[in-house]
Amino acid sequence: MPDHSANTSPSSPSENAGAAETVVRAMKGHGFYDRHSTPQRATIDAVLPWLEDAIANMRLTEGSPTIGVADFGCSEGRNSIAATQAVVAAVRKRTAQPILTMHTDLPLNDYSRLLTMLRPEGRSVFNVAETYSAVVGGSFYGQLLPPRSLHVATTFNSIGYLSRRPIDRLEHHVQANGPSTPDAPGSVSQEEKEAFLEQTLADMESFLRARAAELVPGGLLLLQCFGAGEVWHNCDRITDALNDALLAAVAAGRIGRAGYETYYSPFYYRTVDEMISLVATPEAPLGSLFRLDRAETFDVSVPFVEEFRRTADVAKFASAYVNFFRAFTEPQLRMAFVDRPNVDQTIDEIFAHIERLICDDPERYELHYISVAALLTRRGGAMPEFG
Ligand SMILES: C[S@@+](CC[C@H](N)C(=O)[O-])C[C@H]1O[C@@H](n2cnc3c(N)ncnc32)[C@H](O)[C@@H]1O
Repeated sequence: MPDHSANTSPSSPSENAGAAETVVRAMKGHGFYDRHSTPQRATIDAVLPWLEDAIANMRLTEGSPTIGVADFGCSEGRNSIAATQAVVAAVRKRTAQPILTMHTDLPLNDYSRLLTMLRPEGRSVFNVAETYSAVVGGSFYGQLLPPRSLHVATTFNSIGYLSRRPIDRLEHHVQANGPSTPDAPGSVSQEEKEAFLEQTLADMESFLRARAAELVPGGLLLLQCFGAGEVWHNCDRITDALNDALLAAVAAGRIGRAGYETYYSPFYYRTVDEMISLVATPEAPLGSLFRLDRAETFDVSVPFVEEFRRTADVAKFASAYVNFFRAFTEPQLRMAFVDRPNVDQTIDEIFAHIERLICDDPERYELHYISVAALLTRRGGAMPEFG
């Protein structure tokens, strides 16, 4: 069950590390996330060339017996393996040393497909000599790997998930960035938004300190996550549709008003400036640990949106769109409403409601998958201090 205790101050990195498991229930498993995450894959493909270029020029320390490569927030694994394949290929061009790939996520994540996919027919999926893999369960807001064991770290579409609920209730919308569709009901106050932003910054600090401990000096960290641009924030229109669907469930007596007011999505869409603020300059709070090499915001082109533009098949579009949204939304809804009678039926109705809204007016629910990304290099010298 989610932690609903009222709590307003950001916690220390070590507290954050444990709390994440109580507020995020991984993704919808049994292959569902893997089948419905093509937008996430498109965002990964957009930033991988940054890393490939940086690996071509990075300093690889002679002393390390093994080159460590880790992906944080691997989910069911399809996208994690695809991204790591590019990293392994780039590293192998630079050195013949053994490579260890590590795929990490919360302990409750469904790892079954990943474990199978890593060694199809008993051989490493990476198909590159001397490459080995491991899976590590734990919150990425704490240190998961030995000190200075990592040369290249990636995280995609994951560090937006908060380690804890920054406020007890978000009474008038399901998401802390608030409504975006013209005429959409609901609101989020400035004070509420600030509580989320503060938690996002505290989590970012925990994440960066943990990775700073794990990375060798000169090691690379590629951060990519859903976020906010100047006009859109990620998935804002379909999030308004979720808000409508939950209000309809309240009106139908499926969920109580108090349940609606207590539920909210466990993330806040931040801008790229908010994401890099801790490392933007050498004088920034963690500027002595990381050098910022590059940062960008982008609105990636989504395959099923492109297909809809070509075919105008609205039913197919709405189904793909809702399944993509459902893959990362359903587990949190289930956690919030698990004690309601007929929770499965209620959840099916919520997503069916959203699908109807999209079919009726696809233009109103246009999809923007907004990404924020940054490439950092671990500076040499001091190890981070943990609070
Ligand atoms: C949207 S999925 C992204 C999966 C994959 N990286 C991709 O881009 O397709 C987000 C993942 O982050 C994981 N996650 C969320 N909070 C986490 C935490 N504190 N520690 C580790 N993993 C976390 C979730 O369990 C989920 O698998």
